[in-house]
Amino acid sequence: MRDRDDIARLVREFYARAFADPLIGPIFTDIAHMDLEHHLPIMCDFWETVVFRAGIYRRNAFTLHEALNRRAPLGGAEFERWIELWTATVDDLFAGESAERAKAQARRIASSMRRRLAGGSGSALETIGTRERLAAAGEIDEVREAPAR
Ligand code: HEM
Repeated sequence: MRDRDDIARLVREFYARAFADPLIGPIFTDIAHMDLEHHLPIMCDFWETVVFRAGIYRRNAFTLHEALNRRAPLGGAEFERWIELWTATVDDLFAGESAERAKAQARRIASSMRRRLAGGSGSALETIGTRERLAAAGEIDEVREAPAR
């Protein structure tokens, strides 16, 4: 896995599988009515930031899943399926260091999200390291300069 094109291939393939999944598919299609073409660049920003430390994802992924969790509870089974699908998709398309990072970081972010949704702290995520990746996962807000007046 080398660049944004590779990330885009991975993300497309992952969501094709996720949308078709009997357990979590309906969350994307029936509940969130997720428009993949709209989301693709956002997902690519996110994964480029997580895998290649690109620092280009500046949104808060956690709050979004928190809102989603109120409409469709995201529990252990859902997160396990998400990780299973992500891991299998990465393995089917890529091998190597970046692929390993994509899987490991996804696992960390998923368990942190899950813990936070269940009301705990996101401590595993807090150990990941860079602010950039914490921000990417919605664990912290991106530090922004106050607007000039
Ligand atoms: C059960 C597990 C999960 C479900 C059902 C799920 C579902 C969704 C849905 C429906 C959206 C689109 C929401 C909208 O804009 O309307 C979304 C966005 C997103 N998800 Fe997940 N998700 C799950 C886990 C994860 C995990 C583990 C990660 C990261 C490792 C992740 C990363 C993202 C990102 C980056 C976005 C885009 C956020 C943005 O718009 O800035 N999701 N997810």
